Amino acid sequence: MTTDLGIRLTQYASGGGCACKVPPGELERVLGGVLSAGDATDDLLVGLENGDDGAVVRLDGHRAVVVTTDFFTPVVDDAYDWGRIAAANALSDVYAMGGDPLVAVNLLAWPRDRIPFDLAADVLRGGADVAREAGCHLAGGHSIDDPEPKYGLAVTGIADPGRLLRNDAGAAGVPLTLTKPLGLGVLNNRHKATGEVFPEAVEVMTTLNRDASRAALAAGLTCATDVTGFGLLGHLFKLCRASGVSAVVDAAAVPYVEAARASYAAGYVPGGSRRNLDWVRPHLDASVDEDELVLLADAQTSGGLLVAGELPGWPVVGELVPRREATVVVR
Ligand code: CO
Ligand code: CO
Repeated sequence: MTTDLGIRLTQYASGGGCACKVPPGELERVLGGVLSAGDATDDLLVGLENGDDGAVVRLDGHRAVVVTTDFFTPVVDDAYDWGRIAAANALSDVYAMGGDPLVAVNLLAWPRDRIPFDLAADVLRGGADVAREAGCHLAGGHSIDDPEPKYGLAVTGIADPGRLLRNDAGAAGVPLTLTKPLGLGVLNNRHKATGEVFPEAVEVMTTLNRDASRAALAAGLTCATDVTGFGLLGHLFKLCRASGVSAVVDAAAVPYVEAARASYAAGYVPGGSRRNLDWVRPHLDASVDEDELVLLADAQTSGGLLVAGELPGWPVVGELVPRREATVVVR
């Protein structure tokens, strides 16, 4: 049961979900002067260098911890669904590194003078339900009073240091698999503007990337990332740059959530999606039109895994190729 107070949570957000991420170019400029604080034993297996999904520190020969956090403003009006989406999204970065989430804590910001604090209970309950589904302990957290509601998790996971899914391990000649359809940014934008609910989008955003991650590890694959705020093109660009390869995307093979294309045609598109495209454009060689590119760059919330390799049951959307002038080719 969800507390129905007639409150539209998305109206309290200036941004929206992963679309409220800091633009990738700006983030990299600021982080450029900041170095990972590794120690001399090189136990920090994944640090800041390639903007991977989480930090990974080796504990011993067969165990490593994965640490990550993600939180954002309401992407949907329903408090319980928002909690579920934010939790699935935060847990995803552990799966995107090849880990299993072990324990998480809540991060909650709430305008107590504007929205009844009771509604926050629904958000937290959504997060707890998804953490339980993931087999991840959820214990405590931190909450602050804030003009804008925000929710997410800080997650600690466990991985095998010899079997990670890194974004810098891509090799030419390998197909690219995408495990969730795109168009979530477009539909969240429409939901915020009109209040229309898109159950398929909610279903996609609350689906854990656990099965995809385990399938990738079982197939012996080593390179993956999750597709979130920077869109397919942005996250693919980062993966290619880190791996020293280029990619060819088959635009016609990329799946979309029902209603995404029609919603885009009707003018619904997050500002973040266009910023993503502008960021990647200097490294892009495209033979599809601008609209197709904006859709491919659409800022996703709790999107799927982009995996270098083939995963039975999920579509191949392109392939990695030897490094060429354009880092990402769309045809
Ligand atoms: Co990620
Ligand atoms: Co993240």
